[in-house]
Amino acid sequence: MDKIRIRGGRALNGTIPIAGAKNAALPLMCASLLTDGALRLANVPDLADIRMLTQLLAQHGVLVGRDGGTGEMVMTAARIASTEAPYDIVRKMRASVLVLGPLLARCGRARVSQPGGCAIGSRPVDIHLTGLRALGADVDLIDGYIEASAPRGLTGGLVTFPFPSVGATENVMMAAALARGETVIENAAKEPEIVDLAACLVAMGSTIEGAGTSRMVIQGRDRLHGASHRVLADRIETGTYLMAAAVTGGEVELTGTSIALVSAAVEKMREAGVTVTGTDQGIRVHRRNGPLTGIDVVTEPHPGFPTDLQAQMMAMLTVADGASLITENIFENRFMHVPELCRLGADINVHGASAVVRGVKRLSGAPVMATDLRASVSLVIAALAADGETEINRVYHLDRGYERLEQKLAACGADVERVAA
Ligand code: UD1
Repeated sequence: MDKIRIRGGRALNGTIPIAGAKNAALPLMCASLLTDGALRLANVPDLADIRMLTQLLAQHGVLVGRDGGTGEMVMTAARIASTEAPYDIVRKMRASVLVLGPLLARCGRARVSQPGGCAIGSRPVDIHLTGLRALGADVDLIDGYIEASAPRGLTGGLVTFPFPSVGATENVMMAAALARGETVIENAAKEPEIVDLAACLVAMGSTIEGAGTSRMVIQGRDRLHGASHRVLADRIETGTYLMAAAVTGGEVELTGTSIALVSAAVEKMREAGVTVTGTDQGIRVHRRNGPLTGIDVVTEPHPGFPTDLQAQMMAMLTVADGASLITENIFENRFMHVPELCRLGADINVHGASAVVRGVKRLSGAPVMATDLRASVSLVIAALAADGETEINRVYHLDRGYERLEQKLAACGADVERVAA
């Protein structure tokens, strides 16, 4: 297995292009199941998770390719060959469950392996299933599979979520787009990726109001058609490089992104003493003279501080002046990066859903292990700030969500290399 080796202590200076959002691209790709027309997606990142979903869609009968000229991903689901999403693929990537709503709506049935627990908590899919039942689906859990059927098609209805789950909102939006009549989603997730999916569904022939608010209204259609759509910028990659630049004390411009996508994180970074400004191309970040200051951070559904940037923010705050309190409200077990950050010299204590980070003067390099996608990139951030050499093992976690990470950092002066096993 590959490793990433970083010799820390160098400021990052330069420009980093931000890729399309993984978490927008995955549901958008699943939307290709809703039509027999071609769905063309621009700005799809080249990532392990995208390749995994490509494999799953291909096994459902979707033809997936890249346009040699434009680089767009082109998906055509002229015929659905299978409505089953097998355990072997779903267990590797939880977002595979997003094929459930589209398959059910298009074919009247779907059999999707239950995504198991994963490293960051139990992560059930009960809210997805309640939502699909409200559209008239029969849903059973049999032998580790979700078996859903609606032989006479889905019917629009009122879906009230107990929690604004991102995935459940996406599954219900896609199912509702091919249901009979109107669907209202109350307490819908408001993430930018939801707005992006709604824009694509509208381009495919849907009518959707209220995307980005907690009440969304979707008019179902008999059929949808092909469309072209550009995937929005990755706000988590954006926030990650903002924090990496801040911790090393450099000045970096992130292009192809915008402050509006990361406003909660930017507000917190400014509070910690980082200068973040909008530019024509994207965002410029640099640290004001002097150290970072400890701050308190609480993760919340959008527009609050995103859980997917919690580990990176913690890494940045390990070297701030004073103490920080970080509270994780979305996932129950999302502090696996803490023991690894402590191996680099951080002073962090976890109490239930909160972590107290007492800033230290210096971190020092050590071998560490990546445990999940965002945890592993927090180790990269800490390693960039640490004295000496850090070796990060199990980098396949990083490859799931960060395109050309070493190249992007090296182009800004980081001493980083991938060591093939
Ligand atoms: C998406 C993102 C993920 C991010 C998360 C929260 C994708 C592909 N992934 O994941 O990177 O960390 O949003 O911003 O977009 N829950 C239930 N029952 C359900 C569904 C969710 O209890 O049926 C709980 C989860 O266990 C978790 C919380 O709700 O505690 C948030 O989950 P959700 O918003 O659904 O996250 P995902 O869509 O899985």
